[in-house]
Amino acid sequence: MRKRITVIGSYNTDLVSKAPHLPRPGETVLGGPFIMGPGGKGSNQAICSARLGAEVYFIGCVGNDNFGEMAKDFLLKENVKIDYLKVTDKTHTGIALILVDDKTGENMIVVAPGANMGVTIEQIKEVKDIIMNSDVILLQLEIPIETVSYVLDLVFRKDKPLSILNPAPARNLDKNIIEKADIVTPNRNELEIITGIKIETLEDVEKASRELISYGVKGVIVTLGKDGAFVVTNRECKHIPSFKMEVVDTTGAGDAFNGGLAVALSEGKDLISSVIFASVVAGLSVTKIGAASSMPYREEVERFLKEYSN
Ligand code: RIB
Repeated sequence: MRKRITVIGSYNTDLVSKAPHLPRPGETVLGGPFIMGPGGKGSNQAICSARLGAEVYFIGCVGNDNFGEMAKDFLLKENVKIDYLKVTDKTHTGIALILVDDKTGENMIVVAPGANMGVTIEQIKEVKDIIMNSDVILLQLEIPIETVSYVLDLVFRKDKPLSILNPAPARNLDKNIIEKADIVTPNRNELEIITGIKIETLEDVEKASRELISYGVKGVIVTLGKDGAFVVTNRECKHIPSFKMEVVDTTGAGDAFNGGLAVALSEGKDLISSVIFASVVAGLSVTKIGAASSMPYREEVERFLKEYSN
């Protein structure tokens, strides 16, 4: 039986250009090529989970415009269930302006959230059964914080679903929101902002992660880009190095990691094996340009894991 993952989050149309270097303030850089495609942390994580074999519901909100129509087409083509995707007349579909450094694959992103701010508590009340009948739920911070908080309240201390909070993009979050998540997956910058602890070394990562564990979170997984991931629970603390891949574009790598993690945990893998699986998913995603379009399929991940273990 396929496991059910429900993603409550954002959809953005990504407008992407590569550039020989990322511009400084006031600078114009000739770049290209230009690519337009599906993005948004929530939708990327949903598409990733679906490509890896889960049954996926996406709870989000798009505008009543061309980009909103494209969103529906993309998500349906990727086998993501959009029965509860809201369409609003009030504002535009979310947009992300993305620049990718041709040499390093690093990016700069500005998001105009538009319709994503229409993912309301009212909408969640209507999909309560879908959420409660999921194996895993995935949340990020490109929708209103009060909606994220409401969802975490709904599932807090229930056997199912397991909740994963990816606190991205970095925003100040109250302790009483974070403490309700089962698993929290910040990157270095997000960890620094939510704990107030300066992150320079792995010791700092461990210290800040332990702070989140002291709130009551069951597991903290810090994504460290090319340096891998750091896992802290009450019982273990482990650094998992990344897999060496050819980096083309890092956009969406964190989303790939969270999608992979959700799928592995939903299938009953232990935390460390799930993080290794998620690291392969993230690693494969950076070898292609784009966000949702770079998410790997299950066969690619299994093939990589098989070749790696030989
Ligand atoms: O994590 C990458 C995503 O961040 C992009 O797809 C963009 O839409 C922003 O939400």
